[in-house]
Amino acid sequence: MPEHARFPALEERSLLERVAPGLAFAAPPVPKLPATPQPDLAVPALARGCAPSSFTGARHPIDREGLRARGFIVPGDLVTALLEEFRLVKRQIMLAAAESRAGIGAPHGERILIASSHTGEGKTWCAVNLALAIAAEKDNEVLLVDADFAKPSVLSTLGLPSGPGLMDVLADPARAVEDCVLGTDVAGLYVLPAGRTTHSDTEFLAASRAAQVFERLSAQAPNRVIIFDSPPVLAASPAAELASIVGQALVVVRAERTGEAALKDTISLLSGCEDIKLLLNGVQFSPTGRRFGSYYGYGG
Ligand SMILES: Nc1ncnc2c1ncn2[C@@H]1O[C@H](COP(=O)(O)OP(=O)(O)OP(=O)(O)O)[C@@H](O)[C@H]1O
Ligand SMILES: [Mg+2]
Repeated sequence: MPEHARFPALEERSLLERVAPGLAFAAPPVPKLPATPQPDLAVPALARGCAPSSFTGARHPIDREGLRARGFIVPGDLVTALLEEFRLVKRQIMLAAAESRAGIGAPHGERILIASSHTGEGKTWCAVNLALAIAAEKDNEVLLVDADFAKPSVLSTLGLPSGPGLMDVLADPARAVEDCVLGTDVAGLYVLPAGRTTHSDTEFLAASRAAQVFERLSAQAPNRVIIFDSPPVLAASPAAELASIVGQALVVVRAERTGEAALKDTISLLSGCEDIKLLLNGVQFSPTGRRFGSYYGYGG
């Protein structure tokens, strides 16, 4: 991701190559199952406009000026290098989601956790930009869930008003999750706030109600992906719990900052997710041009 930092030092680069031998934009290897139909990235029958969203929360404009000032993708603006980069990330994510829907690979590939070892490595940056890149391409819906329950920042990043969210729903069985999802003035972009602060967030996520709530979030919307903005994995236990709920985890590795030991610990804590991908963030120069990779069977 483009920030003014250089490609990781040799030691860090070899770390990425070791944990992500297929570090490349190329699609990850797809198991050869001739009898299985090839998934379509778009689902025409349920394309946006044909299937009304089940979300009933209020609809708000997002703060385009704020996004522009902080260097995010801005819906409606000209295509930028940043949007192009997130399109490449999006493509791999959507491919895995489509394969998952077709019964190939990990279940619930439409749920994607954006995680990293520590604070400040770019989880929210990547989660918001990825959501905007997905929404920009018209053929899919995206629900961005603020899952950093102790330090939520998705609403402030997008300029959306605070309101009840996921923790309120998990704590109160009478509350419908559809009512807490905010619509936006970006077609196809929805946001679920983190909700009330609680010391029991990990327990709520592990309870059976959480599984039902997550099923409802993707119910009747096979063209919807759900992006979870995670808390730092090494600092907050909900991240590991979230890993067992999602089908893909994208681990943000901040160039020049994320260390090997922290990355190994992070991947180990996220082992509840079968499909872990690495995203190198804050890199200025890559000799090969490759910055995004898939990670398979670490330590296996
Ligand atoms: N590639 C990038 N280019 C420019 N700014 C970036 C980039 N990545 C992150 N930032 C900025 O760095 C800061 C930290 O990023 P961010 O808030 O996304 O980190 P985080 O991992 O979500 O942290 P936390 O765990 O505290 O929520 C933010 O101001 C963000 O906008
Ligand atoms: Mg964050």
